[in-house]
Amino acid sequence: MPFYPTEVELTAVDFSPSMLEKAKDANDRLYGLNAEFIQGDVDSLLLNDQAFDTVVSTLTLCAYRDPNKVLHNMNRWCKPGGQILLMEHGTSSNKAISIAQTALDPIAYAIFGCHHNRDIMKLLAESPIKVKKSERYMSGILHLMWCSPR
Ligand SMILES: C[S@@+](CC[C@H](N)C(=O)[O-])C[C@H]1O[C@@H](n2cnc3c(N)ncnc32)[C@H](O)[C@@H]1O
Repeated sequence: MPFYPTEVELTAVDFSPSMLEKAKDANDRLYGLNAEFIQGDVDSLLLNDQAFDTVVSTLTLCAYRDPNKVLHNMNRWCKPGGQILLMEHGTSSNKAISIAQTALDPIAYAIFGCHHNRDIMKLLAESPIKVKKSERYMSGILHLMWCSPR
């Protein structure tokens, strides 16, 4: 929230009521952004097509049951000429770390509720979203992506 411009009109979505409550509380106490908080499943959420100038996802493609479907939704929800900004974690570009991530994924999923071995570049390549610029950090685990809808 500290990174959004103060004049932003923000629509925040998560299916976890407690995550939304935390975000709402932080906004009320610290940021005062003009924000609507929607509890819903982004797999099936009914938002208007081409409704948003910018679609932001932070650390969520690891968690969705069907990340490909959600990427299609993000592409639909973003206005033509708008931007899709992603900060995601996935399988490492270091082979040894990637093998360990896959071996430990069932345990990591049970503890954290998200997958640690998803191939983020492949997911984006198979989606309609166009990646304009990307950077990887932490042995290639963390992705920053600047994208546009098609
Ligand atoms: C690792 S957390 C990241 C939370 C937040 N985006 C952030 O950056 O702090 C992943 C979030 O995805 C949410 N989530 C997982 N599947 C979802 C779905 N199908 N629809 C909506 N939210 C979902 C979880 O409730 C969880 O809050």
